[in-house]
Amino acid sequence: MQHWNSYWSKTKSLNSFAEGEQSQGYTGDIADFWNRLFSTLPSNSTVLDLATGNGGLAVLAQQSNPSFTVLASDAAKINPVALYNAEDPIYPTLNKIKFIAEMPSEELKFEDKQFNLVMSQFGFEYAQTTEALEQIFRVLQAKGRFVALVHHKDSFISTDCRYGLTVIERIMAADGLFEQLLDFARLCQSITDKSNFDQQQKAEFKQKNNSLLTLFKSLQQNCANEVELDWFNLLAKDLVPFMMNWQETNEAKIKQIQQSFYYFKLRLADQLEAAWSEERSEEIIKLINMQGHTVNCQPFDISQGRLCWVLDVSI
Ligand SMILES: C[S@@+](CC[C@H](N)C(=O)[O-])C[C@H]1O[C@@H](n2cnc3c(N)ncnc32)[C@H](O)[C@@H]1O
Repeated sequence: MQHWNSYWSKTKSLNSFAEGEQSQGYTGDIADFWNRLFSTLPSNSTVLDLATGNGGLAVLAQQSNPSFTVLASDAAKINPVALYNAEDPIYPTLNKIKFIAEMPSEELKFEDKQFNLVMSQFGFEYAQTTEALEQIFRVLQAKGRFVALVHHKDSFISTDCRYGLTVIERIMAADGLFEQLLDFARLCQSITDKSNFDQQQKAEFKQKNNSLLTLFKSLQQNCANEVELDWFNLLAKDLVPFMMNWQETNEAKIKQIQQSFYYFKLRLADQLEAAWSEERSEEIIKLINMQGHTVNCQPFDISQGRLCWVLDVSI
């Protein structure tokens, strides 16, 4: 969970697409989907956003109908309100939502039959299915609904994620870029007079700097396509300053960025692991049917291609 704790404590993005246009909350097809659903709920409904992250979906629900009571839980140490100032336009909405950190979907601490709707955007699939479903059905009112958008193994998001994982793993390979960066950082640190260093240091600096640049270029050239190249450039953006502003480079800073790359890799791996195949979706349908609930699970396609699964359960 440390990889999610670290992510949510550092990003102001309302959801896990920190780089994308959705970073300030869900828009477009995803927002339309949820807003349609919210418009079917009675006013004063109580809704729960499961595995909320920084609350992108919870915010959408609260904005779509201010009469809703919105609660939002996550297994990670989330605290979206603390990331914003009272002057930020989003603040009043975030402040109205009750966020609950460190509450896994398998261990919901809510009363029985508390919610009209339990919802989740790319979050339910990260939990243990049987345990999480048991909790969701317990906290839903009679005639309540559980609706989740779930990662699909064949979505364009999963495809992109696979490319990202390949590139990050290549960058992080043992004896690779980080080893050389650490070695370079140790040298930078050892040069006390940065404006006037001796011949031997100069030679060593040149050799290590050249070798880093060569490795950088070869990693870039190893990108098999445009998508891998985009990923490489995105990741390199955080590394290049250590070579350019070498006077400020030190081992601790490189270790810190190495740690953040490692967490990023874990988040991508988590996402791929969580995504449902056809077979997995059929298993889930059977599981829910066995509990006597009506369930529909269909792929959700948009103009860019396959986005995800829609899981819709009425109890
Ligand atoms: C891809 S993020 C999605 C977050 C948010 N719903 C969004 O749309 O941005 C997945 C989230 O699932 C959370 N998570 C992972 N395992 C969980 C579990 N067992 N119970 C609750 N949350 C979990 C992570 O902490 C993370 O915030």
